[in-house]
Amino acid sequence: MKVLLVSNSARGHAIAEALKRSPKNPEIIAVCTGKDPGMAKLAAEVHQADLAGLYKIVEIGRNAKVDFAIVAPDDPIGAGLSDRLEGSGIPTVAPKRNLARIESSKSYARELMKKYGINAGPAFRVFSFTSISEKRKLEIEIHKYIEEHLHGHYVVKYDALKGGKGVKVSGEHLTTIDVGAKYAMECIEQCGVVVIEEKLMGVEFSLMSFVQGDQTVDMPAVQDHKRAFKDDSGPNTGGMGTYSDSNHGLPFIMPEDLKTASECNKKVAEALKKEENEIYKGILYGGFMATADGVKIIEYNARFGDPEALNVLPILESDFTEICLAILEGRLTADMVKFANKATVCKYITPKSYPEGKKEKGQKVYLPEKYPENVRIYFGDITMDENGNTLLGGSRSIGVVGIGDTIEEAEQAAQSVCEQINGPVRFRADIGTMESIQKRVDLMNKLRKQ
Ligand code: AMP
Ligand code: GLY
Repeated sequence: MKVLLVSNSARGHAIAEALKRSPKNPEIIAVCTGKDPGMAKLAAEVHQADLAGLYKIVEIGRNAKVDFAIVAPDDPIGAGLSDRLEGSGIPTVAPKRNLARIESSKSYARELMKKYGINAGPAFRVFSFTSISEKRKLEIEIHKYIEEHLHGHYVVKYDALKGGKGVKVSGEHLTTIDVGAKYAMECIEQCGVVVIEEKLMGVEFSLMSFVQGDQTVDMPAVQDHKRAFKDDSGPNTGGMGTYSDSNHGLPFIMPEDLKTASECNKKVAEALKKEENEIYKGILYGGFMATADGVKIIEYNARFGDPEALNVLPILESDFTEICLAILEGRLTADMVKFANKATVCKYITPKSYPEGKKEKGQKVYLPEKYPENVRIYFGDITMDENGNTLLGGSRSIGVVGIGDTIEEAEQAAQSVCEQINGPVRFRADIGTMESIQKRVDLMNKLRKQ
């Protein structure tokens, strides 16, 4: 069996490892943006390509006569790579372009949820030049909406994929309503539309599901840390690290919160099927916030999270290759998916200047020769030169995942390996620590009492 795997990061390395654990031992034909040492070890072929070149990727899959494909990153999914692959007779685990708008267009996602009565979202409004024709009038209207309806607590969302960096939040990135209205106008100028929504207060978490049409099977809940620096400060990144708990919930959420999130994923899959009259085959990732008012939807993604995939795939006890086949053949059931009752903590090693600069690109990074048995290493934007040196790219470099019976044990395992990685790099030591988790528990307790 042969699988085409399209990847641009450590998430692809974790997917490749999960595929290879199958008794079917599929041959992996990888198409990657770089030549990382992880994929090189696992794949039968590694093709370096620009993932915007959809035709080339399809050609690689056809030439290798793959049985199916998995597309990991958002950009090729949003650009319609699944449509092209399926059009060439390659069944694909990733939604088609119209269904992937649940991620690639924030306005589509909010309007779809509104239309199908999925009411767990914040108040929002979509603005565009078509709604008000004159530029100055539009800016005044946006200002008024933020001030009068959202009382100055708002979020401005660029309406297209931007690597998690198109969202700006009041009080953090947007210091005054004028600044917010100006950013909203910039978004409209660049992509025609902007979404402005109520700023929610609470603690975020992710719940990913395997999806085949309106059938959803959940994975363990995970908490990501999107901000660049300690104590969740600084700019948004693709995600600096994550943790999951052995009971597949999270310390700061209640069982009913998880149930609401699960129901939201199911309802969104059902809504997509009705709206697009097409079957979603792949991963649906709900980004949620636990608030005083229950669970609210922050966003949807049409793929595995990165790093969330690094938490869940290593503890997937079932055969991942078989799950993919079940999704493609329309026979996915909940009993096919079993995760170990283990906690995980992932800390991403990144270049020192990530996400704002790329100064360290091409510089060497030194890894320990051996890792403890309960640690997994996943390579992201890293290349190996002809002398065997490991070189940094400009983006997230290495996902270090600790696995344990408790979050504490998993955190200590990940932390100890991160400390042994040397070079012009950094990581967030606070991710998954008891102190950091307690802060989230305390915040939720305080919010629930209000
Ligand atoms: P998104 O790309 O929609 O996940 O947004 C990126 C980040 O912006 C999220 O992880 C949140 O931290 C923040 N964010 C997005 N929407 C909201 C919201 N309505 N209220 C508060 N924070 C938000
Ligand atoms: N970890 C956030 C994302 O994958 O979008």
